[in-house]
Amino acid sequence: MKKRRNIAAGNWKMNLTYKEGRLLARKIVDGTGRSDVTVILGVPAIHLKAMESILGGVSNFKTAAQNCHHEEKGAYTGELSAAQLKSVGTDCVILGHSERREYFNEDAELLAKKVDIVLKHGMEPIFCCGEKLDIREKGTHVELVSKQVKDALFHLTDEQFRKVVIAYEPVWAIGTGKTASPAQAQDMHKAIRDLIREKYGEETANLTSILYGGSVKPANAEEIFSQPDVDGGLVGGASLKAGDFTKIIKAF
Ligand code: PGA
Repeated sequence: MKKRRNIAAGNWKMNLTYKEGRLLARKIVDGTGRSDVTVILGVPAIHLKAMESILGGVSNFKTAAQNCHHEEKGAYTGELSAAQLKSVGTDCVILGHSERREYFNEDAELLAKKVDIVLKHGMEPIFCCGEKLDIREKGTHVELVSKQVKDALFHLTDEQFRKVVIAYEPVWAIGTGKTASPAQAQDMHKAIRDLIREKYGEETANLTSILYGGSVKPANAEEIFSQPDVDGGLVGGASLKAGDFTKIIKAF
């Protein structure tokens, strides 16, 4: 039997004012009701404190920040530390999203440090990986994604690794309306799980939730989530609409 969590994670990116964010979160909580799906809202940092009270009473809801600095504290104007995020009740931190890799030059070495500090402060990293279109067309996508996972995560102990959620997000599918086929998602998720098994063993591999991201919507969520190695989704655009996101939560 599958022991790992099913997760529907939203990634609001740089969208929604404070008022809009509170409204959306309330609608999602109301529309979801009791559920065994873990729902994670990846919100801009200004919303985190409010989320603590909106989601606080509902045990299957968690909050995620979308980034975090790799140092404890100091002269890094405009940045947020792991301790600061934790201090407003943040549960998870999305790390290594392709937009962070592309526009903010985040590489494996930096991401490994971010993973460490997030774990140190008792939060769960949601580690994103995924290839661009040229790599998919060349056929080296499994090698590239394996390297992204190994380089940023495989220094962790088994106990630490079990707190990590992985999100496979092919860059060519993010915000493009083009989704990976269920078979393409399954193939990559299986490859990632095999890699984890090789390094950390069967039990850890079976406990690690691997999410798919890239144009997940109500119309395709059920088919993607039904693949044996897909444990949910990291959802951008469709997580900004309460109706769509609650349908995705119910697609397991
Ligand atoms: P999308 O974004 O669902 O809008 O494609 C996914 C993501 O970037 O996490």
